[in-house]
Amino acid sequence: MPGIRKQKLTTVSVKDKLDRNKIPNHIAIIMDGNGRWAAKHGNARIFGHEKGVESVRAVVEASGEIGVKFLTLYAFSTENWGRPPEEVNALMGLLIQAIENETEKLNKNNVRLGVIGNIEQLPIDVKNKLFKCINNLKSNSGLTLILALSYSSKWEIINAVKKLAVNVQEGKILAEEINDEMFEDYLTTKGIPNPELLIRTSGEYRISNFLLWQIAYTEFYFTEKLWPDFKKEDFFEAVYNYQNRERRFGKTSEQIVS
Ligand code: IPE
Ligand code: IPE
Ligand code: MG
Repeated sequence: MPGIRKQKLTTVSVKDKLDRNKIPNHIAIIMDGNGRWAAKHGNARIFGHEKGVESVRAVVEASGEIGVKFLTLYAFSTENWGRPPEEVNALMGLLIQAIENETEKLNKNNVRLGVIGNIEQLPIDVKNKLFKCINNLKSNSGLTLILALSYSSKWEIINAVKKLAVNVQEGKILAEEINDEMFEDYLTTKGIPNPELLIRTSGEYRISNFLLWQIAYTEFYFTEKLWPDFKKEDFFEAVYNYQNRERRFGKTSEQIVS
């Protein structure tokens, strides 16, 4: 507009306020609210899932930018198999498409890919694409992106218990030897540190069968934002909120401070 000088706006990001010495090693996200986002915009549910892929891209990039080592995304639960077949099929298709489209970028960004869950249940083409991608990215050393697919924590724990029981039965281990550390080796998250921070979007305050064992001492962050609306700045906000908490692990505040 004539006569009005353009003002230069300096945007301040929450990212700049983050303490780089207190970045969580592992962040887990329950990406929820795609269906409601689609409905809000007068579209079919799958439209929300498609839009949600953009938020996945955003949090993967944001994690890399601040040096998060592990990012676990709850993409499809055991219970989600019970959704209408059209939605399940569309989600599987979207998964294949996302893997195909994103592998090159992930590679450029030094991202490794991992997967947790009952992978055997996935359609063969999804499994093949997934393993191919994991293999292509296996020598990367930056962020490890872990997709929870056909995952549920009760399934994982029962599975671990079964394998442990067999090993006890066969005399490979003694029942008395079983401890936290050994049990963790039987989970699909073997070798992955427990998350320090768990984020859930869409204003639902529940865990929905996600990482029950692993979140024993995790900090929770809930936001009303629907997953497709969750962007980098929201992610940094969650990390900032986490950084301003005191993790006591059962001790007193005085013990932690000293
Ligand atoms: C999360 O969004 C994605 C999956 C569970 C696959 P939803 O599909 O659960 O969306 P809402 O909760 O119905 O809005
Ligand atoms: C949890 O979301 C699973 C994923 C995000 C993949 P849901 O939408 O399936 O969870 P509930 O049914 O609302 O608890
Ligand atoms: Mg949901």
